[in-house]
Amino acid sequence: MANNKVTIIGAGNVGSTIAYTLNFCHYIHQIALIDLPGKMEKIESEILDITHGLPLRCSGKLYAGDYPDCRDSKIIIIAAGRNRLESESRIDLLSVNAHIISDVVTNIAPFYKDSIVILITNPNDMLAHMVHEIGVFPYSKFFATGCILDSSRFISQMVQKLQLKNQDIKGYVAGEHGEMQFILWSHLKLKNKAVNEYCQINNIVWNDEIMDDIQSKTKSYGSDIIKGKAFTNYGIASCVLFLVDSIINDIEIIVSICCEMMGEFDIVNVAMSLPTIINGNGIRERVIHGYTKKEVNQLYNIASYLKQKMHKHTRKIVY
Ligand SMILES: NC(=O)c1ccc[n+]([C@@H]2O[C@H](COP(=O)([O-])OP(=O)(O)OC[C@H]3O[C@@H](n4cnc5c(N)ncnc54)[C@H](O)[C@@H]3O)[C@@H](O)[C@H]2O)c1
Repeated sequence: MANNKVTIIGAGNVGSTIAYTLNFCHYIHQIALIDLPGKMEKIESEILDITHGLPLRCSGKLYAGDYPDCRDSKIIIIAAGRNRLESESRIDLLSVNAHIISDVVTNIAPFYKDSIVILITNPNDMLAHMVHEIGVFPYSKFFATGCILDSSRFISQMVQKLQLKNQDIKGYVAGEHGEMQFILWSHLKLKNKAVNEYCQINNIVWNDEIMDDIQSKTKSYGSDIIKGKAFTNYGIASCVLFLVDSIINDIEIIVSICCEMMGEFDIVNVAMSLPTIINGNGIRERVIHGYTKKEVNQLYNIASYLKQKMHKHTRKIVY
């Protein structure tokens, strides 16, 4: 029988919501939830609460685990680490979360076989580069969620603005899961048509002002939600469900996830989000065609911005 086990490390707002979401998936046989040793009571309470929500369907597959659970997990999800306060940017979390993620990866290492590892913790791109550098996971088996959530926030605006269905829109946000992110307008397809063509045919007003407004809302949604409720959890949990579904059921999808740049556009030594084909084996291929010159320049700017920030902060971090 296929081994459809998922281990989640970090049972905070994000990790627990992912556990809740994945608990509904009939094709997942076991979910191990791991946190710090002092957080056992919190984990047990999360598990009780989640399983009490499914009295007729609960199979007892969710339990408090430990690092040996990683050994036979198809997927390991890392959601351990501090969330940002309203006054902070994601990059402000680098020092504290680099230590946590380095600890987590060190703990996984003795048990790691061939699981696909998904990193959620922020600052997502910088930590993805750090994990790549630590070198425990093969390239195709490790990625961070990157701009998948930003892409989803973008698509949700397009759905509302143009009265379309989700499945009519293919769109991606690329670069950094942070301030430097940008919408890949060149790759936007509405019912298989480029946006300008679609809007012209359907008599829809489409101009720079509208595009700037969508871009700025896409970027600020995370902070807006944190202002209102102190954390974000549901959006990222749905994105993770989409990824887990693709991996476990081996369904090929294109999503803007973050992983180490391996010379795409001659960029190396940094991790960034690009539309990427993933399937049951992890990363298959990054999409590198069809970008405008402006978009490629934006990628260069982001690469040098991320490298500068990492250099500045990592001088203080030993991992
Ligand atoms: N990538 C995204 O799109 C996205 C979206 C939302 C949140 N996030 C990030 O996810 C992370 C978690 O957010 P949250 O709201 O769940 O935070 P949280 O504070 O609610 O939970 C974090 C959990 O990590 C645990 N933890 C800390 N150190 C650990 C260690 N060494 N080993 C195991 N567990 C450890 C804590 O005990 C805590 O339970 C944050 O960095 C946040 O910024 C990312």
